[in-house]
Amino acid sequence: MLAVLAATTTPENLSTFSPASPSAESIKGLFILVLAIMGGILLLVEGILVYALVRSRRRANREDAEPPQVYGSKPIEIAWTVAPCIVVFVLVLLVGRVLWEVRPDPDTPPAGAKPLYVTVVGHQWWWEYRYDSYDGRELGITTANELHIPVSAPGQPQRPVYLNLQSADVCHSFWVPRLGGKTDLLPGRSNQMWLQANEPGLFLGQCAEYCGTQHANMLLRVVVESPEDFEKYLAAEAKPAIDPTDKLALADKNAFRSLSCVNCHTIRDKQDTRVNGTFGPDLTHLMARKTLAAGMIENTPENLRKWVFSPNAIKPGCLMAGFELNEKEMNSVIGYLKSLK
Ligand code: CUA
Repeated sequence: MLAVLAATTTPENLSTFSPASPSAESIKGLFILVLAIMGGILLLVEGILVYALVRSRRRANREDAEPPQVYGSKPIEIAWTVAPCIVVFVLVLLVGRVLWEVRPDPDTPPAGAKPLYVTVVGHQWWWEYRYDSYDGRELGITTANELHIPVSAPGQPQRPVYLNLQSADVCHSFWVPRLGGKTDLLPGRSNQMWLQANEPGLFLGQCAEYCGTQHANMLLRVVVESPEDFEKYLAAEAKPAIDPTDKLALADKNAFRSLSCVNCHTIRDKQDTRVNGTFGPDLTHLMARKTLAAGMIENTPENLRKWVFSPNAIKPGCLMAGFELNEKEMNSVIGYLKSLK
C-alpha cells in the first residue's frame, strides 16, 4: 500500500509517503516506525485476547464449570505497568529526535548554504508571500498564493527555505505534505519552519487549520525551480508592473486608480503609490501566476473577468466584493490587470 501511495510524483500527489524534503523524510520515517511499534502492540494484545477467548471458552461437556479464578498477580501487575512506560519513553525519544531534525534554525543556516527567507502571512482565504532575502541579498518582493523556491540539487550548495509564519486574522496552518509537516500561522505571533526541496516541480498543499467558510479553498502552490530559473523569477518580480511606454495600459491604469480596488490591493510603482492597499493580494505581477482565488481557478482572461465581476459567485463568503462595475469600467480593469505581466 505504501508503495502505491508513493508511486506518483505528480502535483496531485499529496502523500506524506513520497517526501521531497529532508524534514518530510524524517516525518515519514517516524510515522512508519511508530506505526510498526503500535502494530506490534496491537498484534500482541489481540493475540493474548484471542488465545484467552479460545482457551477459556465454555465447553459442551462441562456446562457449569468455571475457569480457575486468579485474584491479583504481582509479576503480571508489574509487567503491564512497566512495559507501557518503556514504550512511551522510547516514543518520546523518537519524537524528540525528529522534532530536533525538523526544527528550523534560521539564524544559523548550514555552512555554504544559500538560504531563502520568506515571510508568509495567512489571510482569509489566501496566502501572502514576502520575499525577505536570498543568499544574503535583500529582496523586498511581495506576491500571493504561489511560492517559488530554488531546488537543492545534490552536489550543489544547499538552498534551505526559512518561512516566518504569521496571520492577519485567524489561525491557519501551512501544509505542503511532500515538503514538510504542518505549522500553524497564529495571530499575534511568528512561527518558524523550513523546507528544502530536492527535486523540481509543482508541489500542492492545503491550509490545515479550519479558518472559516473558504478554508477548503485556501490552497497552496509551491513551485520548485532550478537556481537559474529562480533568479529569473526574482528579476521579473522586481521589475515595475507595466511598461511605461504602453499607452493603452496607462489609460486603463488611470481608470483602475479611480476605482475602489486601490483600497485593498497593491500594485508596486515607485512613481505612483496610490494603489497600496494591503487587505487583499498584491497584484504587481498578477499575470505571472497560474491561478486565481488561491488556487481555485486557472488564471485566464475569462476567469479573471468572472472573478472581478462577482468573486462570491466563485468563492462564496470570500471577502472581496463585486463592485457592480459597468462594462466600460470592467474593460479597463481587466485590460490593466492583463498588462501586469
Ligand atoms: Cu486558512 Cu484554513
